[in-house]
Amino acid sequence: MTDRDADKRLAAIAAVQEIRDDMLVGLGTGSTAAHAIAALAARRLRIETVATSQASAALAESLGLKVLDFAGVSRVDIGIDGVDAIDARLRAVKGAGGAMLREKVVADAADRMIVIADGSKRAERLGGVALPVEILPFARSAVIARLAHLFERVVERPGYRTDNGNIVVDGHGWDDGGLEALVAGLSTLPGVVGHGLFLHEIDTAYIADNGVVTRLERGAKPR
Ligand code: 5RP
Repeated sequence: MTDRDADKRLAAIAAVQEIRDDMLVGLGTGSTAAHAIAALAARRLRIETVATSQASAALAESLGLKVLDFAGVSRVDIGIDGVDAIDARLRAVKGAGGAMLREKVVADAADRMIVIADGSKRAERLGGVALPVEILPFARSAVIARLAHLFERVVERPGYRTDNGNIVVDGHGWDDGGLEALVAGLSTLPGVVGHGLFLHEIDTAYIADNGVVTRLERGAKPR
């Protein structure tokens, strides 16, 4: 296990201590979320889960966790997920793993959204990482042409389809000076079905740096 992976695991183990019996837990996607799923399964709590991807559902079920179909769920107690970049205000970019649409739906349904990360994910500014955008295949060319006004470079993931059957492009070189305006622009562009900017969804972050886990709360100082 690399130091970075060890930190992901530490952050995950710390976060799952917040889970209690009888909770419905949202499971994120990616390598850090996989550590959380394993740590949660190891606690053998009386819980139910929903998953933000087929991969996470398969992992959770293989470890003995009960996974409900989210289509029948309107509220989740706590969601636990990874991030690609997170700033001090707990605004984040997600979606390197392509699951950002389901991740945002589950985060929105969650009473509390916890993210977990190793320290490399801390960012002073979010614009330094690619911003994933999920696009209806029918609208591919029209949306990519419009996104060219928002990003210096738009790169389609070759041969990739999300669990929703859509394509994903990564927007590189974007202006992070007006995040709300960017979210509004993306959200109102017909054919865009999701994107990886999470500005208001995250309540708590567990970030591990070289074996030390810091808990950050929205609007609060680290403790
Ligand atoms: C998937 C995500 C992941 O949470 C994000 O990409 C972080 O992944 P990892 O934990 O593997 O670094 O948003 O859509």
